[in-house]
Amino acid sequence: MHPHSPSVDLADDIAATAGPSEASGSCDAADPAPVPAMTAPTGPVNAVSGLPRLRAGELQAQVLGVLASDSGKAFGVAQIAQQLHGRSTGAIGLACDKLVTLGQATRDNAQFTVTAAGISHHRAHPGPAPVPPVAAPTPRTPSPATPTPAAPPASAGSAATPVPACPAPTSGPVRRPNGQLYHPRRLAKRTDVDVLRQLRTEDVAVLLYGPPGTGKTSLIEAAFGDDLFTVPGDGDTTVGDIIGDYVPTESGGYEFVPGPLPRAMTSGGVLFIDDATLISPKVLAVVYPAMDGRRQIIIKAAGGQMITAKRGFYMVAGHNPGVHGAVLTEALASRFCAQIKVSTDYDLAAALGVDAHMVRAARNLSTRYDSGDIGWAPQLRELLAFKKLTDVLGVETAISNLVGIAPPEDRDAVIKAIKQTFGIATPAPLALGTQV
Ligand SMILES: Nc1ncnc2c1ncn2[C@@H]1O[C@H](COP(=O)(O)OP(=O)(O)OP(=O)(O)O)[C@@H](O)[C@H]1O
Ligand SMILES: [Mg+2]
Repeated sequence: MHPHSPSVDLADDIAATAGPSEASGSCDAADPAPVPAMTAPTGPVNAVSGLPRLRAGELQAQVLGVLASDSGKAFGVAQIAQQLHGRSTGAIGLACDKLVTLGQATRDNAQFTVTAAGISHHRAHPGPAPVPPVAAPTPRTPSPATPTPAAPPASAGSAATPVPACPAPTSGPVRRPNGQLYHPRRLAKRTDVDVLRQLRTEDVAVLLYGPPGTGKTSLIEAAFGDDLFTVPGDGDTTVGDIIGDYVPTESGGYEFVPGPLPRAMTSGGVLFIDDATLISPKVLAVVYPAMDGRRQIIIKAAGGQMITAKRGFYMVAGHNPGVHGAVLTEALASRFCAQIKVSTDYDLAAALGVDAHMVRAARNLSTRYDSGDIGWAPQLRELLAFKKLTDVLGVETAISNLVGIAPPEDRDAVIKAIKQTFGIATPAPLALGTQV
């Protein structure tokens, strides 16, 4: 729950309008298949605000545009809202937070400043220009005593909406929204990116599973780019983190800001539930109605607003089965019909410039990890960090750093593998020495 939220318990604030059948969302169900799309087009105008409706990621692009218009300047949310002709401050605040997470902006108190990465992202993806309202917006008069839902997100699903077909097959690296390149991997005789995009058009929900640092998030970002709405799961994830919450407005009231689930549904975007098995099963259950039957949810907290998933709405999840506290329930497993194991591609690590000796050591450790002999092996994340540190501080220091990263119970095995492939004396974890 948002720290400033009024005490509204959202746990009961969402209800399924889909049929009660558990099987309706399961892998063997024969639901009337919705016709999905890769991208949903912009709707005309929000009836309440009079503002043109934006597609997934467009408000974020506009906020970045405002910040990039004066790169040295720090902007408050209200200032940004002014330049965006009065778009919801709550939604702008969320967009600012997302930009900070992506490294495209920095935050100092409640002020946001664009970063160099933000400027180059804005240049590459300028987004739509802000457009003034086409009709006088209905004034909102929220009161602290009785929270009033803000303009609800549009429910959608119009069959008249023209939708592009699945994009052309990928034939090289794919740029993720954070600017990094993703190198597609083989899956079902095609690229993983293409397979995921096709599974979206066929509405086959995907669960990616594998150890940390193997590429689950990267693959999903590469496949769905700016269409993505993410719920970062952990034991503290609340229903409000998924469906939305009340946030204070500048006028002293509160407004309901839809969370990633309704925003993905109304824009025909992709909801990515990261570390899904760390989320309490009771909380996670709020997403199931959106996957089942009529793909609708009702948000009681937002005045009983019914949200219908627009074409293209899709759900993917990721999890690490080995992580302490991970619970893969039957309800979750049965709804994600395609379950894809993700492990490190050591050839890719070598191709990305990781020292061949370290790749060999990591591969040996990975074989032992797979057989259950040891509990940890360096994955792509650690190998890329190894390369970075090698470039900056040299290979000896990078080796020491990796030894220090290895869990104590597996450290001897890591040291042995490294000694074998590098032919060096016993490396020690990276540590400060005596006074210089
Ligand atoms: N196919 C790929 N091409 C290029 N870089 C990749 C690829 N796959 C993964 N990476 C890089 O490897 C690192 C780890 O990837 P990522 O964060 O996606 O792992 P993850 O499986 O989601 O980890 P976690 O379970 O901890 O969330 C990132 O730096 C990412 O950029
Ligand atoms: Mg991840």
